[in-house]
Amino acid sequence: MRTTMKSLRFALGMAAMMAVGGSAPAYAAGEGIEIPRQKWSFSGPAGHFDKNQLQRGFQVYKEVCASCHGLGLIAFRNLAQKGGPEFPEAGVRALASTYKVDEIDGEGKVVQRPARLSDRFPKPYKNEAEARSIHNGAYPPDLSLIAKGRSVAYTGSIWYHPVAMLRDIVTGYQEGGSDYLYSLLSGYKDDAPAYRRDGAKLIAVPDASVRRGDKSIVRCVAVEKGTAGKPDNCAPMADGMHYNSYFPGHQIGMAKPLSDGQVKYGDGTPATVSNYAADVSAFMAWTADPTHDQRKNMGWQVMLYLLITAILLFVAKKRIWREVH
Ligand code: HEC
Repeated sequence: MRTTMKSLRFALGMAAMMAVGGSAPAYAAGEGIEIPRQKWSFSGPAGHFDKNQLQRGFQVYKEVCASCHGLGLIAFRNLAQKGGPEFPEAGVRALASTYKVDEIDGEGKVVQRPARLSDRFPKPYKNEAEARSIHNGAYPPDLSLIAKGRSVAYTGSIWYHPVAMLRDIVTGYQEGGSDYLYSLLSGYKDDAPAYRRDGAKLIAVPDASVRRGDKSIVRCVAVEKGTAGKPDNCAPMADGMHYNSYFPGHQIGMAKPLSDGQVKYGDGTPATVSNYAADVSAFMAWTADPTHDQRKNMGWQVMLYLLITAILLFVAKKRIWREVH
């Protein structure tokens, strides 16, 4: 009884959220979106962050994402720390001083001063309400921990799932967040998929064969099959939303943030959306886990230590019991 009340309340809450235009994720029943896995320098037990990639990722964050997304858990000094982008400290100090942070002065008044190495990145908004009012009701989340807050769903056969899980445990797969972020950032389409009505049915039409101004084409985020002789139902895109192949529900309030040539890399890496997406996703993987490299190094040292200890114990056991055997 209690659980039915709970689920009823949950359903009512969801309905209310949708009715007032909240951005409840619109998962279609049973639908998981397959996220392709990428190759990351930091994957597997021996993986480490590539500091050049992190530097490029930070550049993309700063030049593109920072206008909308905060990075509130990262301090400027982290950018110079080992295992991260490892920018020279003097450069980071100069960068920090271009930001302003609040401070309380001797008379209790809030004043602004240039940021120092120990300060965290200032927030781009006063609060969530301000952020939402700027972005048409949507909230651009802080990106510090987003790589840990997102993952990939398993979409294969239920019978293979235990095997897939075991494989991921053995290979130490932990890059679901970065895989999702990469797909999200490179998965924008100009419009929702095209369909043509054929009697009661909606037939998918490849974008390449859609002629401009063709009135018989409808664009649907999702198509619900009509039952009992009813025609198929087309769910159109909501106003101000953007089509993304990998975002749950496929409609996202964030416009396509990256396009080719937008950020000029200094190290000759081609300026493509795919590279930007990979670099900034790696950067977000680091912000969510800044001691990742130290942790993996420590892991190997502990393994080596245990191995040596095991050998010593074995030799000692042999010696002690030599007389008895
Ligand atoms: C013009 C503002 C703007 C810019 C620039 C922007 N975003 Fe967003 N972003 C948003 C908004 C608004 C949302 C919330 C969308 C929603 O909930 O529908 C969002 C959501 C996100 C999400 C969360 C997606 C999820 O799964 O919930 C991620 C991750 C993200 N942005 C990353 C980035 C990155 C990385 C960049 C830079 C390459 C970037 N954004 C640039 C406005 C922006």
